[in-house]
Amino acid sequence: MKRRILITDGLSSSGITLLKEKVDVTEMDSAMLSGEFDALIVRSRTKVGSQVIESGGSRLRVIGRAGVGIDNIDLAAAKKSGVVVVNAPEALTLATAELTLGLMLALARKIPFADATTRAGAWRKKELVGTQLHGKALGIIGVGRIGTAIASRAAAFGMNVLGFDPHLSSEEVGLRGATPVTCDDLLTRADYISLNLFLSEDTYHLIDQGALEKMKINARIISTSRGGIIDEEALLFALEAKRIAGAALDVFEHEPPGSNPLLAHDDVIVTPHIGAQTEEAQSQVGIDIAEEVLAALAGEPLRWRVV
Ligand code: MLT
Repeated sequence: MKRRILITDGLSSSGITLLKEKVDVTEMDSAMLSGEFDALIVRSRTKVGSQVIESGGSRLRVIGRAGVGIDNIDLAAAKKSGVVVVNAPEALTLATAELTLGLMLALARKIPFADATTRAGAWRKKELVGTQLHGKALGIIGVGRIGTAIASRAAAFGMNVLGFDPHLSSEEVGLRGATPVTCDDLLTRADYISLNLFLSEDTYHLIDQGALEKMKINARIISTSRGGIIDEEALLFALEAKRIAGAALDVFEHEPPGSNPLLAHDDVIVTPHIGAQTEEAQSQVGIDIAEEVLAALAGEPLRWRVV
């Protein structure tokens, strides 16, 4: 019997072509599996809770996450049901790092405001005095693949890069291009703070009122990792009180963010979770997850097994 794979959040044509050479592929919005599929491939939109996993019955063997974050998959339920979970963490590194640099520049030079007002027929040149990145301190919280790629790019801009990572030794943080510091040190010293962490119980609301109060008055925070790491209410309060200078958010605790008041704040730049949205990253992530899921179904060695 030919193996069947369900894809619920889309996948690049390169990935689908690869899969179709070996298995039947079904694309659908819903992930109710009814025991008909051997594997499920999702991005971040589909929430793969215990019910979805149970709906896969004994046929479901693999869940593939086309990307890095696995917070939308109930890993404990997958483990309990003997379902292998794999992700594709490498392909989107550069895309996310480049977006982070873009957001940092957009904050420093108020590019969205300059664009919107010029299009509207105004010429607000006098108000549009920004600051340079050169000589500023960038604090990277989470010095994994993406954090490391951001570090080298920020260094090329002449920034002083500080790094904190709860899972890495100081030596490793140093080897990844950042001066190792404690989290408190980073919060108090950085002009820009980039969050590059997984969302977990430990990182939920890591940036809360207490953390925001430690930051410099001119500090700007950029999040391209996961909503929920910043306490959005506390961030809004800090921005309104002019406790910090700005934020660029690509991710939100609830996506899409609806009527979240942060969207209307002048010192906030927002984008719709596009860190991984480059042609190159999406094409490669499709290939990576297709290969990994096929390998898992064939019982071959895996590069990125999560569970
Ligand atoms: C990821 O975790 O892979 C990224 O946030 C990309 C995404 O889910 O769209």
